[in-house]
Amino acid sequence: MNETPLVVVSDRAEINIQLSEVSKIYDMGEVKVNALSKVSLQIPKGQFIVILGPSGSGKTTLLNLLGAIDVPSEGKVEVVGKELSKLNRKKLTKIRRNHVGFIFQFFNLLPSLTARENVEYALQIKGLNNTKKRAMEVLEQVGLAERADHFPGELSGGEQQRVAIARALAKSPEIILADEPTGELDYETGIAILELLSALSKKGQTVILVTHNSEIARIADRKIRLRSGSIISDELNENPIPPKDLRW
Ligand SMILES: Nc1ncnc2c1ncn2[C@@H]1O[C@H](COP(=O)(O)OP(=O)(O)OP(=O)(O)O)[C@@H](O)[C@H]1O
Ligand SMILES: [Mg+2]
Repeated sequence: MNETPLVVVSDRAEINIQLSEVSKIYDMGEVKVNALSKVSLQIPKGQFIVILGPSGSGKTTLLNLLGAIDVPSEGKVEVVGKELSKLNRKKLTKIRRNHVGFIFQFFNLLPSLTARENVEYALQIKGLNNTKKRAMEVLEQVGLAERADHFPGELSGGEQQRVAIARALAKSPEIILADEPTGELDYETGIAILELLSALSKKGQTVILVTHNSEIARIADRKIRLRSGSIISDELNENPIPPKDLRW
């Protein structure tokens, strides 16, 4: 039997994302990969969640479902009150664009745009004006203001990662999904990014962060562990520590 431990969310909390018995099967012809099996989750607004699990356990697959990038094979996903299976492609795009900021495991920057233009682009497709000022503001927050006019190919891995972070944060999304956002960063830059994400969750943005580094879970409100596509533990953290107290 597949027993999914559940963190029960109080009735008063505003639910941002809800998964009921969600499975994702990648059909590769001969083989079918069960990337997620019957995962149920309720995520309240403003919660800071860390998702842990070994390589191949389904973390990125789960994040893609939470952010309406992908749809489940079975089960129900609701994001900001909308059930994804009832939406067409255009409406799914709209949810992603307006409500979700995604920091990808591989940065997905547009190589022909500068750092600033990459950030501005995310704002422009949302239909916003005066994008330059906001882009510079977030690049400043991730410590990259002086690299704003560089192309991705002229930036280090860690710098590209920070551009991707700035791009996700620029539109002040309700939901921030981050896949190994500190993977390419040195300790100090990593802590600065975690401080930023932690502060945003305190202001009410929901932050869901995937990592291999279990230490990072100490700064979050909740820690979820995946193994072979199932949730094997789901715990609240009553006393999150400030990111600057982390050591690894
Ligand atoms: N597009 C795809 N097509 C087929 N199989 C896939 C696809 N994406 C992921 N998988 C498989 O699904 C499983 C879960 O993959 P997923 O990328 O979610 O793992 P992960 O926990 O993010 O791993 P990592 O820590 O290495 O990033 C793996 O067995 C993977 O090979
Ligand atoms: Mg992954």
